[in-house]
Amino acid sequence: MACEACKHFNEISEEEWRKLDEIIEKYRGKQGVLIPVLHEAQQLLGFLPREVQERVAERLDIPLSEVYSVVTFYAFFSLKPKGRHQISVCKGTACYVRGADNILQKLEETLGIKAGDTTDDGRFSIEVVRCMGACGLGPVMRIDDDIYARLKPDKIPSILEKYE
Ligand code: FES
Repeated sequence: MACEACKHFNEISEEEWRKLDEIIEKYRGKQGVLIPVLHEAQQLLGFLPREVQERVAERLDIPLSEVYSVVTFYAFFSLKPKGRHQISVCKGTACYVRGADNILQKLEETLGIKAGDTTDDGRFSIEVVRCMGACGLGPVMRIDDDIYARLKPDKIPSILEKYE
């Protein structure tokens, strides 16, 4: 069962809805505004859940399916808020040849999410990056500001335990 903090994790406040409406209003009636509106909405909220997409679609008079395809097409739009801890797994060439895929797979198995996603309790997000400038130390993973070098998949569960 979700704890109190988790239940409110996805909630958008009245104030945020009001600001979102202001953003949409600013662009309404103009051409080619969907991406700029979504961009500003994401800057405001940090993510673009379904109810936000519905509001944008309704007020810009654009089909919801079109809004959804734009949000899911561009990697910089996110359907869920970022987790409290951001995990970055390097899949640059040097890390890749040293087993970055096994690291990512172990993370995905342990947390039950895929890269690009956030755990339901809002604790972790996983992203894939293409080189952190530490190629000699691969495979490399970063959690927030901590770097884990020459990582082995079996170390991952105990590393994750350090982050609340
Ligand atoms: S390829 Fe992973 S740090 Fe450069």
